[in-house]
Amino acid sequence: MVGTQLGRYRVLEQIGAGGMGVVYRAHDDRLDRIVAIKVLPTGSLSDAVARRRFQKEALALSKLNHPNIATLYDFETQAGADLLVMEEVAGVSLETRLAAGALKEGEVIRLGQQLAEALAAAHQSGILHRDLKPANLRLTQDGRLKVLDFGLASTLHPRSESKSTASISDFGPTAGTLAYMAPEQLSGDEPDLRSDIYSAGTVLFEISTGHHRLKTRAGRRWWPMCCTRQRRRRAHRSPGFHQSWTASSASAWRRILMTATNRRASWR
Ligand SMILES: Nc1ncnc2c1ncn2[C@@H]1O[C@H](COP(=O)(O)OP(=O)(O)O)[C@@H](O)[C@H]1O
Ligand SMILES: [Mg+2]
Repeated sequence: MVGTQLGRYRVLEQIGAGGMGVVYRAHDDRLDRIVAIKVLPTGSLSDAVARRRFQKEALALSKLNHPNIATLYDFETQAGADLLVMEEVAGVSLETRLAAGALKEGEVIRLGQQLAEALAAAHQSGILHRDLKPANLRLTQDGRLKVLDFGLASTLHPRSESKSTASISDFGPTAGTLAYMAPEQLSGDEPDLRSDIYSAGTVLFEISTGHHRLKTRAGRRWWPMCCTRQRRRRAHRSPGFHQSWTASSASAWRRILMTATNRRASWR
């Protein structure tokens, strides 16, 4: 693919790959600018299903216009391949950034606010992301967070409608990345915006501590927080935030994270 010309786009280099697509940096010869192009590798899924899902990703992104969500430029077919053309988000993925450990208080709060704003905008447009995780979030050099990969996004239905809607995605409600999925997603129930809130809380825990929530003792204790007083007391112990946190802000932040990642959707 690198070096080929796809219509007006000259493919320069591969910049990423996920479970579904491969992403290239390319030059748009008509508008003389750098873009990112996501394409589907042939193989894993049946072509028709994969293309339908890819179209859904483009349709979801096309409804969103927000500084913290990668902007869609175009969706077109060249040489038999569908191309999702979007802004190139230079910088690093949050997953890469996490390799250097927990982020400082100020940075966590800034990124948390941006993630919340991006999610609120998507939800207001009726879009659920359903696959929030560090690999799908990018940090630009000037400290902006951008949400990527609406490949599993689905349309948010009013509750009364959701049961009668045949399928909210081609892959059913359980599609997603297990470690970041809300319990109701894991058990195959219809996800709603609270499922995204759970995933966002799990990501924010991870950037606050440098560890996935369920890999820390304190984080695991949050699950049965509803049970006994003793367990609740233990759960309130510090889950190991970066040393830059003050005691009072760490305690407030912990409460926010515990609420966001509560196993019961109605308590989030
Ligand atoms: N617009 C973009 N700008 C820069 N890098 C991107 C962009 N979109 C995706 N990437 C990179 O490519 C990787 C795979 O893209 P993604 O959309 O997550 O594909 P998949 O659906 O296969 O997971 C991402 O983790 C990210 O590092
Ligand atoms: Mg991805």
